[in-house]
Amino acid sequence: MATTLITGGTVVSATGRANADVLVDGERIVAVLEPGSELLGTDLKSGVDTVIDATGKYVIPGGIDAHTHMELPFGGTAAIDTFETGTRAAAHGGTTSIVDFAVQRYGERVQDGLDAWHAKAAGECAIDYGFHQIVGGVDADAIEAMKTLPDQGVTSFKLFMAYPGVFYSDDAQVLKAMQVSRDTGMLTMMHAENGPAIDVLAEQLIEEGKTDPYFHGIARAWQMEEEATHRAIMLANLTGAPLYVVHVSAKQAVEQLAWARDKGQNVFGETCPQYLYLSLEEQLGASSDEWGAFEGAKWVCSTPLRSREEGHQDAMWQALRTNDLQMVSTDHCPFCMKDQKELGLGDFRKIPNGIGSIEHRMDLMYQGVVTGEITLERWVELTSTTPARMFGMYGQKGVIQPGADADIVVYDPNGHTSIGLDKTHHMAMDHSAWEGYEIDGHVDTVLSRGKVIVDDNAYLGAKGDGRFIKRGLSQYLV
Ligand code: URP
Ligand code: ZN
Ligand code: ZN
Repeated sequence: MATTLITGGTVVSATGRANADVLVDGERIVAVLEPGSELLGTDLKSGVDTVIDATGKYVIPGGIDAHTHMELPFGGTAAIDTFETGTRAAAHGGTTSIVDFAVQRYGERVQDGLDAWHAKAAGECAIDYGFHQIVGGVDADAIEAMKTLPDQGVTSFKLFMAYPGVFYSDDAQVLKAMQVSRDTGMLTMMHAENGPAIDVLAEQLIEEGKTDPYFHGIARAWQMEEEATHRAIMLANLTGAPLYVVHVSAKQAVEQLAWARDKGQNVFGETCPQYLYLSLEEQLGASSDEWGAFEGAKWVCSTPLRSREEGHQDAMWQALRTNDLQMVSTDHCPFCMKDQKELGLGDFRKIPNGIGSIEHRMDLMYQGVVTGEITLERWVELTSTTPARMFGMYGQKGVIQPGADADIVVYDPNGHTSIGLDKTHHMAMDHSAWEGYEIDGHVDTVLSRGKVIVDDNAYLGAKGDGRFIKRGLSQYLV
């Protein structure tokens, strides 16, 4: 087994930082030592196969992106990143594990959906991967099948209160699925938007000739998110299901989560980089020679970008500090402008929903450290440690300690990353939703289970390096 010593760096965890050397043997971390330590009288540097000099740099557990959609079928097309391209891009950005969503829709078997996702991912991934299960057709068969998922390492499922006719569940279906969540301990993940009401507003906007991408966000008003979040909380309260609300963007939805948490309910929430940095006003102002106002389609996602004037972005950062929101995932769901987003030219309802960010999450969140929005430790907690605990991987993932997988990122706070299509772009989309963003930091070296897969922007891994993560139940539940 190859041994590696990462020496001279500052090891950062969710609870603190320390100057320490990290010793890796094969796929695992075997020791975290005082800098320059000897082991059984041997100078470690000369005794190991590889030495990585991390002087002046942060040594952090690899990022975990717990919300991705490789190849998701949506709006007559499919998300453009495959497990190969998407996980390679993730690796470049310091993410060493993903949890993607297997899909079941009306009339399909849950097990078939999960098997299909295994077939898509096996042998393709650059990094380790797990699955949540989308249940888009809650019926008697689906309910029975859901009960078998935890034994297969799939311990969370996602329901949609949005997208009628696609993935939508009505309240009766949500209630029944939540009863499975209560009985099995699986986490219910919720897309909380009032889909039927949104569809009425969207139709009225189109009839008024308001067809540009910007109106996607007008139809999906914050009231739709607040109302659905409250309803999800109450159904979870009634059934006793643990609830995790995905891609939270409205400050009023956060207030609902905080209210429920303050009462002691097992309710959790994530936000995404787009809801911290981007806004509806910027989407309205977006225009290009190629696309005109349709340029705004690059940022069509659901929940939508919110108004900066109304203060949603500031509220998301605050909620991350106060722990009213516990995690940051990307909701990576990339579509090209050409042939994909352009399906919605003349009708925003037909624009496939989603933004690609898997490569930039660690950097974008580190920029929040630079600007003083979050601490260094909170950065690690939001992007790695809490995702590991929330989704039953902690100990193996999300921490630098003996026995953990050697998923490690050496991050240079004095480095720089310029984001853009011609600069740092390994995702399959034909544009970057983050074009022009400058980051005061850099992912230098990435180890996945002990193997250096990215070094100085060079990819040294191979497809098939990544393995399926059989997850346990959430470690936030007693
Ligand atoms: O716009 C989004 N979020 N697309 C992906 C599907 C979902 O709802 O997460
Ligand atoms: Zn969603
Ligand atoms: Zn999603």
